[in-house]
Amino acid sequence: MKKYIAANWKMNLTPKASVRLATAIAKAMRGKRYRAEVVIFPDALSLAAVKEALGKSGIFLGGQDCSVFPYGAHTGEIAAASLKALGARDVILGHSERREVGETDNLVKAKATEAMRVGLRPIICVGESAADRKDGRAMPFVRAQLRAVLPVKPVRDITIAYEPIWAIGSGRTPSVAEISAMHSMIRQEAARLTGKTIKVIYGGSVDAKSAASFLREPEIDGLLVGGASLRATSFLAICNQA
Ligand code: PGA
Repeated sequence: MKKYIAANWKMNLTPKASVRLATAIAKAMRGKRYRAEVVIFPDALSLAAVKEALGKSGIFLGGQDCSVFPYGAHTGEIAAASLKALGARDVILGHSERREVGETDNLVKAKATEAMRVGLRPIICVGESAADRKDGRAMPFVRAQLRAVLPVKPVRDITIAYEPIWAIGSGRTPSVAEISAMHSMIRQEAARLTGKTIKVIYGGSVDAKSAASFLREPEIDGLLVGGASLRATSFLAICNQA
């Protein structure tokens, strides 16, 4: 199975800078056979322009979040169906930076249901805090989070992203063995809850140096890359190692 490599650009780039970066990545990838399935998640306002810049590069597009509601009177929200209409294939849901501004497991679960209803593939984020990890509660915490966000019905093409909150943007990561143990639990628990085989990817301070050891590990189906996806050179270096 191809490794899944996601570039989460968060709210770091202007639309112009997003197009520039997408163009550079697409140019480098066009015509080459990558062993990775690459997906770029620009901010919502840059989706259409990035889609165009990606052209026929074979790189997929995704949204960073979506509304729990179908079309209607919901000021400021972004409909999952509109993401789909703009060419997004995937959508990140429940990222810790969204949970920080109040998203609950229930909301994440409902968003996943709406995303799947319109044919988007949800990437649902889970992960423990530094305090939970320190107290040895990382595994039970993530298990409880999974039980709260799954099962969503009908389950189709869900990916779980294990992103320990303390590893995001900090330069620190769990060891490959720690990630592997967590992914194995997530895989088993997700299969039990949904009856489906579910991909489990890792995110949190992945860079060109650490990527190879993560990508070599069979328990790690792919990577969700933040900071290191903001430059074409470092992101391509990660993709090259898949
Ligand atoms: P990071 O972000 O790679 O900058 O740690 C990852 C993420 O938040 O998805």
